[in-house]
Amino acid sequence: KRVAILISGGGSNMLRLVDEMRAGVIDAQPVLVLSNKASAGGIAKADALGIPTRVLPHTDYTSREDFDAALHDELLAAKPDVICLAGFMRILTPEFTAKWEGRMINIHPSLLPLFRGLHTHRRAIEAGVAVHGCTVHGVTAELDDGPIYGQAVVPVTADDTPDTLADKVLVQEHRLYPAVLAKFCDDETPRVAMTGL
Ligand code: GRF
Repeated sequence: KRVAILISGGGSNMLRLVDEMRAGVIDAQPVLVLSNKASAGGIAKADALGIPTRVLPHTDYTSREDFDAALHDELLAAKPDVICLAGFMRILTPEFTAKWEGRMINIHPSLLPLFRGLHTHRRAIEAGVAVHGCTVHGVTAELDDGPIYGQAVVPVTADDTPDTLADKVLVQEHRLYPAVLAKFCDDETPRVAMTGL
């Protein structure tokens, strides 16, 4: 399988997916790492790993539709079987997601359907939940709403801050995302449950 990974930042999730593909744990190869930010640290890391990279600055486009159209063209050129959003901080239009629905997955730092959107760790602490975590789901027109393919859970302790909680969740993201992608690339419908408790 051919996998494209979309990032906006450091790309720690992208690196884990690439490592597991290169190790043969995931039956796939990374064919593109694309970022909407030229400053994304993950682009330099992907370059160093010899993976084709592209930067598509969203600031170069006057509308969300125009950016998504350019993104679609880049993806058509890479011919991926699966697209992984990994710390990709763009909301995609329904027209775009419809073209890739069923082949595009995302990792979100909460136990969906709880805490869709941003600032999930602060919101989890404010809500007083005892468990928090991350979800890998299919991307649909609705934000953070598609079919759930896997979740990993961490405890929330009284001394947690949004940063300490984010660190705990990120450790689990790095376990969960490769496990889900491996099944997805074997044409299985993943349902992965992991505990970091
Ligand atoms: C992390 O906060 C993670 O929860 C979310 O995107 C952020 C950056 O991830 N998925 P990465 O290090 O760029 O993969």
